[in-house]
Amino acid sequence: MRKLAGIFVLLVGSLCAAVVHAQAYPHKPITIIVPFAAGGPTDTVGRTIAVAMQKRLRQTVVIENVSGGGGTVGATRVAHAAPDGYTLLLYHVGMATAPTLYPDLPFDPLKSFEPIGEVTDVPMTLIGRPGLPARDFAELRAYLARDPAALTYAHAGMGSASHLCGLLLMKALGVDLRTVTFKGTGPALNELLSNRVDVMCDQVTNTNSQIRGGKVRAYGVTTPERIASLPGVPTLHEVGLRGFEVAVWHALYVPAGTPQEVRDKLNDALRYALTDQTVKARLNDLGTDPVPLHKVTPEFTRDHLRAEIDKWAQVIRDARPYVD
Ligand code: MLT
Repeated sequence: MRKLAGIFVLLVGSLCAAVVHAQAYPHKPITIIVPFAAGGPTDTVGRTIAVAMQKRLRQTVVIENVSGGGGTVGATRVAHAAPDGYTLLLYHVGMATAPTLYPDLPFDPLKSFEPIGEVTDVPMTLIGRPGLPARDFAELRAYLARDPAALTYAHAGMGSASHLCGLLLMKALGVDLRTVTFKGTGPALNELLSNRVDVMCDQVTNTNSQIRGGKVRAYGVTTPERIASLPGVPTLHEVGLRGFEVAVWHALYVPAGTPQEVRDKLNDALRYALTDQTVKARLNDLGTDPVPLHKVTPEFTRDHLRAEIDKWAQVIRDARPYVD
Protein backbone atom coordinates (compact mmCIF):
# COMPACT_ATOMS: atom_id res chain seq x y z
CA MET A 1 0.00 0.00 0.00
CA ARG A 2 2.84 2.35 0.98
CA LYS A 3 4.55 1.59 -2.38
CA LEU A 4 1.37 2.44 -4.24
CA ALA A 5 1.07 5.69 -2.32
CA GLY A 6 4.68 6.48 -3.18
CA ILE A 7 4.04 5.95 -6.91
CA PHE A 8 0.90 8.07 -6.67
CA VAL A 9 2.82 10.93 -5.04
CA LEU A 10 5.49 10.68 -7.73
CA LEU A 11 2.88 10.78 -10.50
CA VAL A 12 1.08 13.75 -8.99
CA GLY A 13 4.42 15.48 -8.47
CA SER A 14 5.51 15.06 -12.09
CA LEU A 15 2.08 16.07 -13.36
CA CYS A 16 2.18 19.23 -11.27
CA ALA A 17 5.69 19.98 -12.50
CA ALA A 18 4.52 19.62 -16.10
CA VAL A 19 1.50 21.80 -15.47
CA VAL A 20 3.62 24.42 -13.67
CA HIS A 21 6.15 24.28 -16.50
CA ALA A 22 3.46 24.73 -19.14
CA GLN A 23 1.68 27.44 -17.14
CA ALA A 24 5.01 29.25 -16.73
CA TYR A 25 5.74 28.82 -20.44
CA PRO A 26 6.84 31.06 -22.01
CA HIS A 27 8.77 32.86 -19.29
CA LYS A 28 11.68 33.98 -21.54
CA PRO A 29 12.19 34.97 -25.21
CA ILE A 30 11.52 32.35 -27.89
CA THR A 31 13.83 31.90 -30.88
CA ILE A 32 12.67 30.79 -34.32
CA ILE A 33 15.64 29.47 -36.29
CA VAL A 34 15.42 30.38 -39.97
CA PRO A 35 17.90 28.08 -41.75
CA PHE A 36 18.70 30.58 -44.50
CA ALA A 37 20.29 34.04 -44.67
CA ALA A 38 18.39 37.13 -43.57
CA GLY A 39 16.48 38.96 -46.28
CA GLY A 40 15.31 35.84 -48.11
CA PRO A 41 11.79 34.39 -48.42
CA THR A 42 12.04 32.01 -45.46
CA ASP A 43 13.30 34.86 -43.31
CA THR A 44 10.44 37.08 -44.51
CA VAL A 45 7.81 34.50 -43.60
CA GLY A 46 9.48 33.92 -40.22
CA ARG A 47 9.56 37.60 -39.27
CA THR A 48 5.96 38.04 -40.42
CA ILE A 49 4.54 35.31 -38.18
CA ALA A 50 6.90 36.09 -35.27
CA VAL A 51 5.29 39.51 -34.71
CA ALA A 52 1.82 38.00 -34.32
CA MET A 53 2.96 34.98 -32.30
CA GLN A 54 4.69 37.39 -29.93
CA LYS A 55 1.38 39.16 -29.35
CA ARG A 56 -0.43 35.90 -28.59
CA LEU A 57 2.27 34.45 -26.36
CA ARG A 58 2.95 37.76 -24.62
CA GLN A 59 6.62 36.98 -24.94
CA THR A 60 9.39 38.16 -27.26
CA VAL A 61 9.79 35.98 -30.36
CA VAL A 62 13.05 36.53 -32.23
CA ILE A 63 14.42 35.22 -35.51
CA GLU A 64 17.90 33.76 -35.69
CA ASN A 65 19.38 33.00 -39.13
CA VAL A 66 21.50 29.83 -39.16
CA SER A 67 22.32 29.13 -42.81
CA GLY A 68 24.23 26.47 -44.72
CA GLY A 69 23.67 23.07 -46.30
CA GLY A 70 20.43 24.04 -48.00
CA GLY A 71 18.86 24.63 -44.57
CA THR A 72 20.18 21.47 -42.90
CA VAL A 73 22.65 23.33 -40.64
CA GLY A 74 19.87 25.32 -39.00
CA ALA A 75 17.62 22.28 -38.82
CA THR A 76 20.39 20.32 -37.09
CA ARG A 77 20.77 23.12 -34.54
CA VAL A 78 17.08 22.80 -33.60
CA ALA A 79 17.08 18.99 -33.67
CA HIS A 80 19.74 19.06 -30.94
CA ALA A 81 18.28 21.98 -28.96
CA ALA A 82 16.64 21.62 -25.55
CA PRO A 83 13.03 20.40 -26.01
CA ASP A 84 11.62 23.25 -23.90
CA GLY A 85 9.71 25.30 -26.46
CA TYR A 86 12.27 28.11 -26.63
CA THR A 87 13.93 27.00 -29.89
CA LEU A 88 11.71 26.54 -32.94
CA LEU A 89 12.47 25.85 -36.60
CA LEU A 90 10.76 27.37 -39.62
CA TYR A 91 11.64 25.10 -42.53
CA HIS A 92 10.13 24.48 -45.92
CA VAL A 93 10.05 21.58 -48.39
CA GLY A 94 13.80 21.20 -47.72
CA MET A 95 12.85 19.13 -44.65
CA ALA A 96 11.47 16.55 -47.09
CA THR A 97 14.37 16.56 -49.55
CA ALA A 98 17.22 16.50 -47.01
CA PRO A 99 17.06 12.73 -46.27
CA THR A 100 17.59 11.92 -49.97
CA LEU A 101 20.21 14.58 -50.66
CA TYR A 102 22.21 14.26 -47.42
CA PRO A 103 22.86 10.54 -46.67
CA ASP A 104 24.66 11.41 -43.39
CA LEU A 105 22.00 13.84 -42.21
CA PRO A 106 22.47 14.39 -38.42
CA PHE A 107 18.72 14.33 -37.81
CA ASP A 108 15.62 12.41 -38.85
CA PRO A 109 12.86 14.76 -40.08
CA LEU A 110 10.16 12.51 -38.65
CA LYS A 111 11.85 11.51 -35.36
CA SER A 112 14.00 14.49 -34.34
CA PHE A 113 11.16 17.02 -34.44
CA GLU A 114 7.56 17.53 -33.41
CA PRO A 115 5.65 19.55 -36.02
CA ILE A 116 3.54 22.44 -34.74
CA GLY A 117 1.75 23.11 -38.01
CA GLU A 118 2.09 24.35 -41.57
CA VAL A 119 2.37 28.04 -42.38
CA THR A 120 2.17 28.92 -46.08
CA ASP A 121 2.58 27.33 -49.54
CA VAL A 122 4.62 29.73 -51.65
CA PRO A 123 4.69 29.73 -55.46
CA MET A 124 8.06 30.06 -57.18
CA THR A 125 9.04 32.32 -60.04
CA LEU A 126 11.71 31.80 -62.68
CA ILE A 127 13.57 35.09 -63.07
CA GLY A 128 16.57 36.42 -64.98
CA ARG A 129 18.99 39.25 -64.39
CA PRO A 130 17.86 42.61 -65.85
CA GLY A 131 20.53 42.61 -68.56
CA LEU A 132 19.86 39.07 -69.81
CA PRO A 133 19.05 39.22 -73.57
CA ALA A 134 16.22 36.63 -73.22
CA ARG A 135 13.05 38.70 -72.77
CA ASP A 136 10.67 35.75 -72.30
CA PHE A 137 10.77 32.01 -71.71
CA ALA A 138 10.87 31.12 -75.42
CA GLU A 139 13.97 33.29 -75.88
CA LEU A 140 15.52 31.88 -72.68
CA ARG A 141 14.91 28.34 -73.92
CA ALA A 142 16.49 29.16 -77.30
CA TYR A 143 19.44 30.83 -75.57
CA LEU A 144 20.00 27.74 -73.41
CA ALA A 145 19.66 25.41 -76.40
CA ARG A 146 22.42 27.31 -78.19
CA ASP A 147 24.84 27.32 -75.27
CA PRO A 148 23.73 25.61 -72.00
CA ALA A 149 27.03 26.48 -70.33
CA ALA A 150 26.50 30.17 -71.05
CA LEU A 151 24.29 30.85 -68.04
CA THR A 152 24.76 30.62 -64.27
CA TYR A 153 21.91 29.43 -62.06
CA ALA A 154 21.81 30.75 -58.45
CA HIS A 155 20.38 28.77 -55.52
CA ALA A 156 20.50 28.54 -51.73
CA GLY A 157 22.25 25.19 -51.36
CA MET A 158 21.49 21.56 -52.18
CA GLY A 159 17.95 20.78 -51.05
CA SER A 160 16.80 24.39 -50.94
CA ALA A 161 13.64 25.27 -52.84
CA SER A 162 15.65 27.26 -55.36
CA HIS A 163 17.92 24.24 -55.87
CA LEU A 164 14.97 21.86 -56.31
CA CYS A 165 13.26 24.14 -58.79
CA GLY A 166 16.53 24.39 -60.72
CA LEU A 167 16.84 20.61 -60.71
CA LEU A 168 13.39 20.23 -62.28
CA LEU A 169 14.08 23.05 -64.76
CA MET A 170 17.37 21.52 -65.93
CA LYS A 171 15.72 18.11 -66.27
CA ALA A 172 12.78 19.59 -68.20
CA LEU A 173 15.07 21.52 -70.54
CA GLY A 174 17.77 18.84 -70.72
CA VAL A 175 20.48 21.37 -69.90
CA ASP A 176 23.06 21.24 -67.10
CA LEU A 177 23.51 24.84 -65.99
CA ARG A 178 26.52 26.09 -64.08
CA THR A 179 25.28 26.74 -60.54
CA VAL A 180 26.30 29.30 -57.91
CA THR A 181 25.41 28.58 -54.26
CA PHE A 182 24.45 31.21 -51.68
CA LYS A 183 23.50 31.17 -47.99
CA GLY A 184 19.99 32.13 -49.06
CA THR A 185 18.14 33.61 -51.99
CA GLY A 186 18.23 37.02 -50.34
CA PRO A 187 21.95 37.40 -51.15
CA ALA A 188 21.44 35.53 -54.44
CA LEU A 189 18.84 38.05 -55.59
CA ASN A 190 21.23 40.91 -54.87
CA GLU A 191 23.80 39.29 -57.17
CA LEU A 192 21.17 38.73 -59.88
CA LEU A 193 20.01 42.35 -59.67
CA SER A 194 23.64 43.37 -60.15
CA ASN A 195 23.89 41.14 -63.25
CA ARG A 196 26.48 38.87 -61.58
CA VAL A 197 24.39 35.69 -61.89
CA ASP A 198 21.96 34.99 -64.72
CA VAL A 199 18.86 33.07 -63.65
CA MET A 200 17.21 31.80 -60.49
CA CYS A 201 13.99 30.11 -59.45
CA ASP A 202 12.92 31.79 -56.23
CA GLN A 203 9.91 32.11 -54.02
CA VAL A 204 7.49 34.85 -54.97
CA THR A 205 7.75 36.25 -51.44
CA ASN A 206 11.23 37.36 -52.46
CA THR A 207 10.67 38.31 -56.08
CA ASN A 208 7.19 39.82 -56.18
CA SER A 209 8.22 43.45 -55.78
CA GLN A 210 11.21 43.05 -58.12
CA ILE A 211 9.00 41.58 -60.86
CA ARG A 212 6.26 44.18 -60.32
CA GLY A 213 8.91 46.90 -60.49
CA GLY A 214 10.35 45.55 -63.73
CA LYS A 215 13.74 45.06 -62.05
CA VAL A 216 14.20 41.47 -63.28
CA ARG A 217 13.17 39.33 -66.23
CA ALA A 218 10.11 37.23 -65.24
CA TYR A 219 9.84 34.01 -67.25
CA GLY A 220 7.12 32.12 -65.42
CA VAL A 221 5.53 30.91 -62.19
CA THR A 222 5.59 27.32 -60.95
CA THR A 223 1.88 27.01 -60.10
CA PRO A 224 -0.86 25.36 -62.19
CA GLU A 225 -2.63 28.75 -62.50
CA ARG A 226 -1.24 32.28 -62.75
CA ILE A 227 -0.92 34.03 -59.38
CA ALA A 228 -3.11 37.02 -58.49
CA SER A 229 -0.17 39.25 -57.56
CA LEU A 230 1.54 38.68 -60.96
CA PRO A 231 -1.29 38.32 -63.51
CA GLY A 232 1.00 39.17 -66.42
CA VAL A 233 3.48 36.37 -65.70
CA PRO A 234 2.59 33.08 -67.43
CA THR A 235 2.83 29.72 -65.74
CA LEU A 236 5.76 27.56 -66.88
CA HIS A 237 3.12 25.04 -67.89
CA GLU A 238 1.64 27.64 -70.28
CA VAL A 239 5.00 28.39 -71.91
CA GLY A 240 5.76 24.78 -72.64
CA LEU A 241 6.98 23.03 -69.47
CA ARG A 242 3.85 20.87 -69.25
CA GLY A 243 3.00 19.98 -65.65
CA PHE A 244 5.94 21.90 -64.17
CA GLU A 245 4.86 22.57 -60.60
CA VAL A 246 6.74 23.46 -57.41
CA ALA A 247 4.99 24.73 -54.28
CA VAL A 248 7.22 25.61 -51.36
CA TRP A 249 5.34 24.58 -48.23
CA HIS A 250 6.63 25.84 -44.87
CA ALA A 251 6.08 24.41 -41.39
CA LEU A 252 7.03 25.20 -37.81
CA TYR A 253 8.79 22.54 -35.71
CA VAL A 254 10.14 22.00 -32.20
CA PRO A 255 12.66 19.40 -31.01
CA ALA A 256 11.22 15.97 -30.26
CA GLY A 257 10.41 15.66 -26.57
CA THR A 258 8.93 19.14 -26.20
CA PRO A 259 6.02 18.82 -23.70
CA GLN A 260 2.53 18.57 -25.17
CA GLU A 261 1.26 21.58 -23.22
CA VAL A 262 4.05 23.71 -24.70
CA ARG A 263 3.34 22.44 -28.21
CA ASP A 264 -0.35 23.23 -27.73
CA LYS A 265 0.50 26.83 -26.77
CA LEU A 266 2.73 27.20 -29.82
CA ASN A 267 0.07 25.72 -32.10
CA ASP A 268 -2.46 28.18 -30.65
CA ALA A 269 -0.05 31.08 -31.27
CA LEU A 270 0.62 29.93 -34.84
CA ARG A 271 -3.09 29.61 -35.60
CA TYR A 272 -3.62 33.06 -34.13
CA ALA A 273 -0.86 34.45 -36.35
CA LEU A 274 -2.26 32.87 -39.51
CA THR A 275 -5.70 34.38 -38.88
CA ASP A 276 -4.27 37.80 -37.97
CA GLN A 277 -5.34 40.39 -40.57
CA THR A 278 -1.93 42.08 -40.66
CA VAL A 279 -0.19 38.77 -41.32
CA LYS A 280 -2.70 37.81 -44.00
CA ALA A 281 -2.34 41.19 -45.70
CA ARG A 282 1.47 41.02 -45.59
CA LEU A 283 1.62 37.49 -47.01
CA ASN A 284 -0.93 38.42 -49.65
CA ASP A 285 1.10 41.44 -50.71
CA LEU A 286 4.09 39.11 -51.07
CA GLY A 287 2.12 36.84 -53.40
CA THR A 288 1.06 34.11 -51.02
CA ASP A 289 -1.49 33.27 -48.30
CA PRO A 290 -1.57 31.46 -44.96
CA VAL A 291 -2.52 27.81 -45.34
CA PRO A 292 -6.10 26.86 -44.36
CA LEU A 293 -6.38 26.03 -40.67
CA HIS A 294 -6.86 22.29 -41.26
CA LYS A 295 -3.19 22.24 -42.28
CA VAL A 296 -2.10 24.00 -39.09
CA THR A 297 -2.01 20.81 -37.05
CA PRO A 298 0.83 18.45 -36.08
CA GLU A 299 -1.03 15.49 -37.57
CA PHE A 300 -1.53 17.04 -40.99
CA THR A 301 2.05 18.31 -41.08
CA ARG A 302 3.53 14.94 -40.11
CA ASP A 303 1.47 13.05 -42.71
CA HIS A 304 2.31 15.61 -45.39
CA LEU A 305 6.02 15.51 -44.53
CA ARG A 306 6.06 11.71 -44.73
CA ALA A 307 4.42 11.80 -48.18
CA GLU A 308 6.75 14.57 -49.38
CA ILE A 309 9.87 12.66 -48.31
CA ASP A 310 8.78 9.76 -50.52
CA LYS A 311 7.73 12.03 -53.41
CA TRP A 312 10.95 14.04 -53.52
CA ALA A 313 13.10 10.90 -53.15
CA GLN A 314 11.71 9.72 -56.48
CA VAL A 315 11.93 13.17 -58.11
CA ILE A 316 15.55 13.55 -57.05
CA ARG A 317 16.44 10.03 -58.22
CA ASP A 318 14.88 10.82 -61.63
CA ALA A 319 16.80 14.11 -61.83
CA ARG A 320 20.04 12.67 -60.44
CA PRO A 321 22.44 13.84 -63.19
CA TYR A 322 21.49 17.44 -62.40
CA VAL A 323 21.54 17.20 -58.59
CA ASP A 324 24.92 18.71 -57.78
C1 MLT B 1 15.25 28.42 -50.80
O1 MLT B 1 15.75 28.57 -51.92
O2 MLT B 1 15.10 27.35 -50.22
C2 MLT B 1 14.86 29.62 -50.06
O3 MLT B 1 14.30 30.54 -50.90
C3 MLT B 1 16.11 30.13 -49.41
C4 MLT B 1 15.82 31.31 -48.56
O4 MLT B 1 14.75 31.40 -47.92
O5 MLT B 1 16.71 32.17 -48.54
